[in-house]
Amino acid sequence: MYSLTCFTIAAILSAAGVSARHSTSECAKGLKMFVSRGTNEPMGAGETGKVVKVISEQIDGSDYEAIRYPASFENPNYFLSVGNGTRLLKETITEYARACPDSKMAVFGYSQGAQITSNNFCGQPPIWSPYSGIDVTDIHGLVEFAKPLPKEVTKNVVAVVLFGDTTHRKDASYNRGNSTGSGIYWRADISACEGLGNRIRSYCDAGDPFCDVNMEPKGNPHLEYVYHYGNEVVEYVIEQYKSGSSNSSGTNVGSPSSPTHAPIQISGANGILSVPVSAIAIVLLVSSMM
Ligand SMILES: *[C@@H]1O[C@H](CO)[C@@H](O)[C@H](O)[C@H]1NC(C)=O
Ligand SMILES: *[C@@H]1O[C@H](CO)[C@@H](O)[C@H](O)[C@H]1NC(C)=O
Ligand SMILES: *[C@@H]1O[C@H](CO)[C@@H](O)[C@H](O)[C@H]1NC(C)=O
Repeated sequence: MYSLTCFTIAAILSAAGVSARHSTSECAKGLKMFVSRGTNEPMGAGETGKVVKVISEQIDGSDYEAIRYPASFENPNYFLSVGNGTRLLKETITEYARACPDSKMAVFGYSQGAQITSNNFCGQPPIWSPYSGIDVTDIHGLVEFAKPLPKEVTKNVVAVVLFGDTTHRKDASYNRGNSTGSGIYWRADISACEGLGNRIRSYCDAGDPFCDVNMEPKGNPHLEYVYHYGNEVVEYVIEQYKSGSSNSSGTNVGSPSSPTHAPIQISGANGILSVPVSAIAIVLLVSSMM
């Protein structure tokens, strides 16, 4: 069943030509989107690709770019992969904000990709120690760049969307979904992300073993965020795009094109995230290190 699902979705994705379409050197006239995929998803936008593809069809002059980080659990190991991705996302957004100061951005991350995304917007070294007891301060280079991106870089970011963030905090005001607990690597300081106000949402459902350790894992909510919330996220991001960035004046951004409001179709119940195995592996890794 899984292989059939994977095959079907992979076929749909390749038929739709989902890939990074433009390099950061091109400034989007509409919305520029950056996507960080989850653990073990093939290079590209992954499951989140379905969402950003619909948005790019709804806002003229929009495109998206997938962050080309390992997204691995092993080889390189999860922590190094997160470090790589955190740095890469930071460089990509910083460079884009400098090259395209008039362009609005939205940033998406799924699972491990959500962790690298929130690393950049929330900051907070050492990232993983509070819950798991893992001291990562000695992982070269990781802590130094795990600081919130400065305002001159984030001022045109209209939306940050996290799905199943491992660093999810149960008390964040920007949470969506029905989880009641925090993630396996919950973040001690979320003040920078709270400061984004309406510009950030973190989706986490009850029983997701990565973002909600409050419950016994139940079903596979970690794989279902796009299925349950894809349409809601499309509407949210389009609305954020129209209503502007952190500056209410909005003088620095072009006037929005009129998105059409054709019904948004996001199909498929299961993603292609091959996390069931790595999910268990990460939980085992964490418990063995405690
Ligand atoms: C980060 O990962 C990418 C993709 O796997 C790889 O090409 C790149 O060399 C890595 N960078 C570092 C600094 O390890
Ligand atoms: C949480 O929300 C998801 C998505 O709507 C739903 O499938 C699930 O049953 C809900 N879980 C609980 C415990 O309410
Ligand atoms: C945003 O507002 C601040 C304070 O008013 C101003 O200094 C800054 O230049 C504005 N940025 C943009 C991009 O308009």
